[in-house]
Amino acid sequence: MLSGRAENRVDSFLPKSLPGRTGRQEFVGSFSGKGYNNISTVNPRTERLEEPLKGLILAGGFATRLRPLSCSKPKLLFPIVGTPLIDYMSDWLDRGNVGEVILAVNHLSDKLRMEVAARKMGDRMALSVEETPLGTGGPLRLAASMMPGREPVVVVNGDIVSDIDLNGLTRAHMASGAEATIAVFSVGDARPFGLVTLDSRDQITGFEEKSPKAQGPGWINAGVYVLNHSVIGMIPEGRAVSLEREIFPVLANRMKLRGWRHNGFWYDIGNIKDYVATNMDLLKRGDQLLPDMRNDVSRAVDVQQPSHVGGHCVIAREAKVGPYAILSPKVEVMSGSIIRDTILFEETTIDEDCRVEGAVIGEGTRIGRGTTIGRGSVIAGEIVIREHSVVNPGSIVLN
Ligand code: GTP
Repeated sequence: MLSGRAENRVDSFLPKSLPGRTGRQEFVGSFSGKGYNNISTVNPRTERLEEPLKGLILAGGFATRLRPLSCSKPKLLFPIVGTPLIDYMSDWLDRGNVGEVILAVNHLSDKLRMEVAARKMGDRMALSVEETPLGTGGPLRLAASMMPGREPVVVVNGDIVSDIDLNGLTRAHMASGAEATIAVFSVGDARPFGLVTLDSRDQITGFEEKSPKAQGPGWINAGVYVLNHSVIGMIPEGRAVSLEREIFPVLANRMKLRGWRHNGFWYDIGNIKDYVATNMDLLKRGDQLLPDMRNDVSRAVDVQQPSHVGGHCVIAREAKVGPYAILSPKVEVMSGSIIRDTILFEETTIDEDCRVEGAVIGEGTRIGRGTTIGRGSVIAGEIVIREHSVVNPGSIVLN
């Protein structure tokens, strides 16, 4: 137990200390080897460094902008084209030579703990559980004792999907003498993000978090950092600290903060609109994401592409699925139903003769026969919608 208000727990299914990795971990997620890993080839890989680094995923936010879906599911478990984000991140970090990973959590930490255990990631992932939210900096200070050694640490926000070349980022950091290096990404409108100003040598000279003044294109903080231990030492203990507002501006003033320009793909799934756009964009990009009709869905079933059908889905012959339908695993669509432009979380059931268009439906939900769900609606997980309901466009349906 550490001092202060927060308790740092390494859960019992995990090793007490984090042993050195003896090889590539067994990957349990469904897209290892194929799937949209292939998209990453747009960004050429830098050769691996010798020793794997330690990583920390910031996964303890309340995800208020993803409510009601985030009331029952942590962001890290949100399906990205049918695959939980944690699986994608695990593979990306592994390819980026990040060995042991700490999940810094508080909100819905039990669900994450169970998922990590179920995926047998316990030899590689440990949870650091905050009793009160510590922001984006405090979790690093809390978990400092879990990251001994002098090597820099890779820190990532638990709500991004990208192919940032972590090997390249780390090498650039080590060669530069900076105390922290931030992956930066170019966007058309920087207002919702942290705007970063770089000089010609990629030294960060300004750092402004989520500012209305940042209207227009610019390089933004991509939420992926390599930090020296000296930076963790700057973070005050026992209280919430914002890396972006309290630590990075100080480092920028000292000329100890560098940027690393990322040119591949980058998505932030922080709100429902961006979450849906991320899924649909990845669906469009990845031919290899198309369903394997041989396994779960008969060729006779009407699935219009692009669509994704996860494992163990059941689709009735008289149902119409797609285009732009994303079915996570174990979804059932019954006869006469139409699903279009929609994301269904796992274990959702759509009874007969429903019409679902432009919606997102949470896990384990049942939509009763003859129901119409209008465009832009979001239905929370684990609920039942009665037969012949009409959910007006733009509705939010809660428990
Ligand atoms: P909103 O409530 O919708 O703003 O989402 P959020 O709480 O996730 O905040 P934000 O998107 O700004 O967080 C960026 C990243 O930091 C996400 O991966 C969060 O999970 C993580 N994060 C935010 N606050 C905390 C915290 O207090 N503790 C930990 N461990 N992570 C956090």
